Amino acid sequence: MNQTKNQSIADLRIDYSQASLSEADSAADPITQFGKWFDEAIRAEVPEANAMSLATVGSNGRPSSRIVLIKQFDEHGFTWFTNFESRKGHELSEHPYAALLFHWVGLERQVRIEGRVERVSESESDAYFHSRPLRSRLGAIASAQSQTIASRDLLETEYAKAEQKFGDNPPRPDHWGGYRLLPDTVEFWQGRRSRLHDRILYTLDAAGNWQRQRLQP
Ligand SMILES: Cc1cc2nc3c(=O)[nH]c(=O)nc-3n(C[C@H](O)[C@H](O)[C@H](O)COP(=O)(O)O)c2cc1C
Repeated sequence: MNQTKNQSIADLRIDYSQASLSEADSAADPITQFGKWFDEAIRAEVPEANAMSLATVGSNGRPSSRIVLIKQFDEHGFTWFTNFESRKGHELSEHPYAALLFHWVGLERQVRIEGRVERVSESESDAYFHSRPLRSRLGAIASAQSQTIASRDLLETEYAKAEQKFGDNPPRPDHWGGYRLLPDTVEFWQGRRSRLHDRILYTLDAAGNWQRQRLQP
């Protein structure tokens, strides 16, 4: 039974053929290139095009990953929001480097982004926190993200307490805010026929300029 199942999983494959990416048609810097692909993912209605895997490494050297939502990107970096006391928060305190990964399935595209991570300013975290729906703001207060809790009921109780205490104007908790990854390498992968995919790697050189190279698939 398992053998049959494994066999059929092994047979799952797609020959990618939708598009290509060359040195000539990629932008001179990866933020512009990312913006172009991100817009195309939104226009193509890729489900949750703003969802990315975030990989971190703690002091024990073991990687961990999870999905978060990108909230902003520009020449300063890629930003998401979370709980600073979560597992990822602790790992980023111990080791302030991370890897982001987007997989836009419908477009046969992957983007890998790596670099150093810092917290965004208090005012940026405040601005984003206060732009969130009330229930999300209360949820951020109620949840000690990544810590164990005895039951769902207790979590709901914490939410009700936050609601009672803060009404419809909850303050941003100190343990909640944004991180920004400052990229030093960004790789764009476009699936191609016969597994001869296009891979364009951008690397930031010592002078702060982006260099572009093609990688073998
Ligand atoms: C589609 C999706 C979007 C998510 N977005 C976020 C987010 O923006 N911020 C966040 O803290 N967690 C987000 N999560 C939850 C995380 O994947 C994760 O469960 C949580 O942050 C705790 O991770 P940690 O224990 O490794 O710190 C999202 C999960 C999914 C599936």
